[in-house]
Parts: sequence; structure tokens; C-alpha cells
Amino acid sequence: GFRIGTAVAGGGHHVDQPYPDPFPNDRQYRRLVGQQFSSLSPENQMKWEFIHPEQGTYRFGPADEIVRFAQRHGQVVRGHTLLWHSQNPAWLEEGEFTKPQLRRILRDHIRTVVGRYKGKIQQWDVANEIFLDDGSLRTQDNIWIRELGPGIIEDAFRWAHQADPAAKLFFNDYGVESDNAKSDAYYALVQEFQAKGVPVDGFSVQAHLSTRYGFPGDLQANLQRFADLGVETAVTELDVRMDVPVGEQPTRAQQDQQADYYRQALEACLSVEGCDSFTLWGFTDKYSWVPVFFQGEGFATVMTEDFRRKPAYYAVAYRL
Ligand code: XIL
Repeated sequence: GFRIGTAVAGGGHHVDQPYPDPFPNDRQYRRLVGQQFSSLSPENQMKWEFIHPEQGTYRFGPADEIVRFAQRHGQVVRGHTLLWHSQNPAWLEEGEFTKPQLRRILRDHIRTVVGRYKGKIQQWDVANEIFLDDGSLRTQDNIWIRELGPGIIEDAFRWAHQADPAAKLFFNDYGVESDNAKSDAYYALVQEFQAKGVPVDGFSVQAHLSTRYGFPGDLQANLQRFADLGVETAVTELDVRMDVPVGEQPTRAQQDQQADYYRQALEACLSVEGCDSFTLWGFTDKYSWVPVFFQGEGFATVMTEDFRRKPAYYAVAYRL
């Protein structure tokens, strides 16, 4: 039942150009997506700005294509994401809506999107990045929490559960790999949801790691404390970025260090019961978001731009 996943590129940016393709029409890429992975995550294609670009208008094509591809290849899909502060369409962020209107907009979106893929999504990232690093809720930049209050998070889980009772519903965030203020906030919220009977099934860590910072050595213990609450855990967006001067390649030592991070992340997940989903945020540097978003960092995935396998690839493959 252990799933190894990748994000499927599309709708975002890589290196220095946007790629409009919903799913790169790249034979080598597609072959590897089909062969090497048992779970797929749409990197952008189910986000609000892509799937709901105009009010009341949905564009399902790219997400449909990924779900169909997964079904043909016997893969599961992680839905990403329903309630987030980022990558929302302008009509939503800049529109003038009353509170009841906004609530209806979110409810209808969740019913429509979750309902469309009912029975085809293993795990949904219902709420993404709802806490700041200090453990406080994002009450400023998250439109839903700001306008409707924290109770909207519960509503989102309830609506998602009604639309697809079989999908496992997750909190997902970055910077929660360790036991810290932010993961403590999730730990408390999971307990609160459980006490109230709100349908939450999982807590997942993105794991956008950098060799600038050490490996989060308490990852396993942190996942374990959530498992002990009775929820599933997952690693959902693993990449390990490195500092490499422009025009140069990572050194062998850097590649080995990166491989070690990948190995340790996998080891932590494998050691925790209920951590059955382990997803890389892309597997080739060809389509990685990292160099676009992190100045001076890159080479974060397990394959080079021309699909050569790095030490990190073997670290993961040999362990499985
Ligand atoms: C990133 C994508 O990889 C990029 O293509 C896009 O331009 C921006 O978003 N946390 C998340 C993901 O939950 O959705 C983000 O994905 C990376 C950080």
C-alpha cells in the first residue's frame, strides 16, 4: 500500500519561462511519470486559479488529463488544494462579495471539484498552509480565514467529506517537518477537530528542504506523534535544493548530501505506521519550480534536466 508519488508539472514556471502546457507533452517525461510512480499530484492544475479561472467557470481539462493518466497506469491521485491563500484567481481575491456569498463560493467550489473526481482521489489537501511559522492562523493573507473566520476550515473539511466520503482529508504545510510552533498548532487543531467530529484524516509535511539547513532530524518523531493521534501522515512535496553558482553543476559531495536527505526523509516515513504516501515535488530538474522561486538554489530533484539519475534517485529506489 505504500505509494511513491510525483507532482505532475504544468501551469507553473520552470527555469525562466512559463510553460502553458497542462502536462508537458514530452515523451520521455510522460514515460517516467507512468513507470516510476504510483501516485500523482497535480502541481498546479487543481488550484483555484487554474481550475476556476472565472467566477462560475471551471476548466477541468488539465486535471482530468492527469486523473485519466493515473487511472490508465494504476496510480492514485492526491488532490491539491481547496483552501489556500495563494494562487487564487483575481476575480476571487479582488471581487467584492458579502460573507454569505463568499461562503457559498467556497462550498460550491468544493462540491464541484471534489464531486467531479469522487472515488478517484486518494487524499485531498483540503487546507494548505493555514498557519504562519509562529503557529498563528493566517488571518491576514488567507481570504477565507480573514473574511469568514477560522470556522470556515471545519466547513471545508465537512463539505469535502460530503462530496467524496472515501477521500482522505489532509492538512498540508511547509516548515512542519519538525516539532515546532507551527506543527504544534496542527497537532492542537487535529485534536480539536477530532473532539468536534470534524472529518480530518491526515497531516502532511511538504518537505521543501534545503541543504542550507540541516535535515529535520526529528521528522520521524514528529510524524509519529500525529500517527499516535490516529491520523495518517504523508510527505507530499519533497525536494532538496542546493546552492550552486550560476553556470556550475553541483559537486559530488553536494549530490551525496542531497541523496542523504532524500534517504532520511523516506526512512522517516517508512518507519511510521500510516505514512503510506511519499511524493516528490517533481522528479526532474527540467520542470522544477525551485530555481524560479529560490534565487541561487536549484538541482533539487532526483534526475537532471536530461533525465539522468542522480545519487538521490538511487537512494530512494534502493530503499524501496
Ligand atoms: C508551486 C508550484 O510548484 C509552482 O509551479 C507554482 O508556480 C507555485 O506553486 N507549496 C505548495 C505547492 O503547496 O502548491 C507549491 O507549488 C509549492 C509550495
